Amino acid sequence: MATMLTNHMWFLITTLLLFAFPTANAIPKRDVENLCRESTDFSFCLTSLESDPRIAAARDLHDVLLIAITLSKIQVDDATTHIGTVSRKFSGPNGKRRIGVCRRNYGIASNRFQTAWELALKKSYGEMEKQAKVGTNAVVDCENAWRRGGPVQTSPLTFYNTNVSKLSGIIFLIFRKLK
Ligand SMILES: *[C@@H]1O[C@H](CO)[C@@H](O)[C@H](O)[C@H]1NC(C)=O
Repeated sequence: MATMLTNHMWFLITTLLLFAFPTANAIPKRDVENLCRESTDFSFCLTSLESDPRIAAARDLHDVLLIAITLSKIQVDDATTHIGTVSRKFSGPNGKRRIGVCRRNYGIASNRFQTAWELALKKSYGEMEKQAKVGTNAVVDCENAWRRGGPVQTSPLTFYNTNVSKLSGIIFLIFRKLK
């Protein structure tokens, strides 16, 4: 519930920020395409950014960065919900431990992406990058947990982990252009 509320506020704040300004100065679509061409997965990048209605009101890379961080945060919180749904299926000691690692790490990631968003808003890009890195590493560690300390298990979070990693890739790409 608290997560849903946070997500909601997130959307609201980013939306208010972006739509408070005229869209006449919106970043050209081809600039977003060019950005995505530099990412590891062009179609994922474009689909993700364009699935967000706020991209129409983004004026520059700073605004696109806020959207990318918001998308990461939402993906992280969706994963947290998913962990709650699948956790019952893991009753063995290894599965339980690994679910615990992911739950804890996604909690870290959620906080870090939230902080990263606040730092990006203040244009403290260097600090933003550090926070986003810690958040991303926590998610990568969740994925790796399924292959360590016992027989390998299929991670129930691969799709979420992959998405967060790709979204982080977009965040770091924009960071290198803004810093
Ligand atoms: C991963 O991202 C894609 C593209 O935005 C989306 O369609 C898919 O639902 C996401 N996967 C999960 C598990 O959320």
